[in-house]
Amino acid sequence: MPYAHITGWGMSVPEPVLTNDDLSKMVDTNDEWIRARTGIRERHIARDNEFPSTLGVNAAIKALQVANLRPTDLDLIICTSSSPEYFFPATACLIQDQLGASKAGAFDLLAACTGFIFAMNMAAQSIRSGSIKNALVVGTETLSRFMNWKDRSTCILFGDGAGAFVLQASDQPGGILSAVMHSDGSGADSLSLPAGGARLPATEATVHDGKHFVHMDGKEVYRFATRVMGHAAHEALDIANLTTDDIQWIIPHQANYRIIESAARYLKMPLDKFVINVERYGNTSTASIPIATVEAIEKGQLKAGDKVVFVGFGAGLTWGALTAEWSGPLPAGRAVHPEQYRRLARVRSLYRRIVRIIEGIIFGRES
Ligand code: ACO
Repeated sequence: MPYAHITGWGMSVPEPVLTNDDLSKMVDTNDEWIRARTGIRERHIARDNEFPSTLGVNAAIKALQVANLRPTDLDLIICTSSSPEYFFPATACLIQDQLGASKAGAFDLLAACTGFIFAMNMAAQSIRSGSIKNALVVGTETLSRFMNWKDRSTCILFGDGAGAFVLQASDQPGGILSAVMHSDGSGADSLSLPAGGARLPATEATVHDGKHFVHMDGKEVYRFATRVMGHAAHEALDIANLTTDDIQWIIPHQANYRIIESAARYLKMPLDKFVINVERYGNTSTASIPIATVEAIEKGQLKAGDKVVFVGFGAGLTWGALTAEWSGPLPAGRAVHPEQYRRLARVRSLYRRIVRIIEGIIFGRES
């Protein structure tokens, strides 16, 4: 049975930064309150021409560069997002097209902020089964589009950004070692985007009532998060036959500094074993774990051979954890240039659209 290794990683955040002081001019809040209750100082907000697919593609290109893999080498793309570009088509298909990953099957996975852990596990299982060799997992968000910028209890928390991992099959032991995934739909109401779905289709009234914005019972989510984070990490460690002593890094979902502190207390681990960057990005939902990972690598914290636990929670309710032995890129062949495929993909996509229009005209006339 092949092992599933994480061989590439990349992140992309929009340039514009919204500080706590900026927010204090928009709603009745202040830097001191936000920092004390959440640990957040600032977050990045997408420009009008930035979308989950464009941020996701930027992160994916970087991940493919690290893995030295062409987009056409990908067999599978899983995109996970709490703010997908459309209901359908899947954001994963938009990413597939923009990358020029012509051989990959692509679909979206919805598990809110736990999405990246669920998606990594699904990609790793597909690799271990022998059915595919190369997978791309993307977590990408422009949650700012679903914020009520008058609701101080939610708009201070979230930020935009994307992160991506490449997973590859290898005979070398290591890579993803274990995973646990949990859900409890009885808590669905505590964090949701109520309108726009089949239950409450968009109407003037739903828009007027702000039901297409994120709604959250912050206290309820806080209690849930502090209850499940450490427990899930323990479960994943047990399955991999590891203890906290074997672990160099915990990379948690970045929602709130206090939630991470409480997980550290539960696991009896020092906070300096946790990768934390919530202060600069806020909660980027599905993208927070890969963004934190990329920063840990770039700072020289996470190194080949390290054992790491990823742990997260989110709407659903969902929560989960995954352990991995960090390996880095597989031995490389000739250097490839994934960026060039993006340019080619634009031309190919345009060509296909024109062919479809011409076919429509010809066959439309015949029928
Ligand atoms: N600025 C100033 N005051 C505020 C703000 C604000 N931005 N927001 C709330 N307050 C006030 C409240 O009105 C309240 O005032 P009152 O005592 O006069 O009634 C007081 O501050 C305390 O409010 P609480 O809601 O009790 O504050 P709490 O300490 O619980 O912190 C927070 C709120 C930060 C939202 C916290 O509950 C939390 O982090 N919850 C988890 C949220 C989370 O992680 N969500 C993401 C899940 S992942 C996903 O799937 C998207």
